Amino acid sequence: MSKVIVCENIIDTSEKLAQDIYESYLKTIQNSNFFTLALSGGNSPKNLFSVLSENKNLDWAKIKIFWVDERCVKPDTEESNYFMTYEYLLKHIEIPDCNIFRIKGEDNAQEEVKRYIESIKDNVPIKNNYPQFDYIVLGMGNDGHTASIFPSNKEDINSDKIALVAMKPENAQLRITLSLKTINNALDVSFLISGKDKSEVLKEVIDNKNKIYPSTFVENKNLKFFIDSKASQLLKLQF
Ligand code: 6PG
Repeated sequence: MSKVIVCENIIDTSEKLAQDIYESYLKTIQNSNFFTLALSGGNSPKNLFSVLSENKNLDWAKIKIFWVDERCVKPDTEESNYFMTYEYLLKHIEIPDCNIFRIKGEDNAQEEVKRYIESIKDNVPIKNNYPQFDYIVLGMGNDGHTASIFPSNKEDINSDKIALVAMKPENAQLRITLSLKTINNALDVSFLISGKDKSEVLKEVIDNKNKIYPSTFVENKNLKFFIDSKASQLLKLQF
């Protein structure tokens, strides 16, 4: 059963999610050396990353940062999820380079996905035959995609791989993405979703569990939806 947390706007929503990540980090580092965190790209996480960068109680030497997905582009371009994360988070914090596990979008996709899988296996504990991230942050596109798993790519939805090469249908852009198997194996998974234009698909995902949308396939015992009031406006919310 997922938990839905509704806040007025993206700022409040981001602060709530940042606090949830912080609490998960505190719990994890009581018993582990590292907190493994996988981040999504797009626009929604920008405020979240700024809030995280301002939390001086986070010891980034104990946090390993991965990406949920990456566009197969150079890391210094606007399209790059790494570039966005650098601008809003990485350049504002003290984090050892060895704790940053960038997906090399500039390299050959089929080769890079193999390398990324190996770097995950070397740095994230394996549980239930898959890497088990401590926390994964997801977004959702207007078409109900999450990570880089798109509605039209049915085989991607069912992939048994740890990560895979995907393609964004609209522009045939190659992506590298964690699989749903890996995402669902995490200890904590949270969506961050804002804006009216997501409200219809979000209703289909949360209320109707419509399996047309890859976001509906995210199933995790600690799944949370951090959403703003505009994105939540069509939901049958039980208070
Ligand atoms: C990406 C993301 C993707 C994103 C959604 C939502 O590479 O684009 O990882 O899954 O989370 O497309 O994007 P917005 O936050 O920009 O709406």
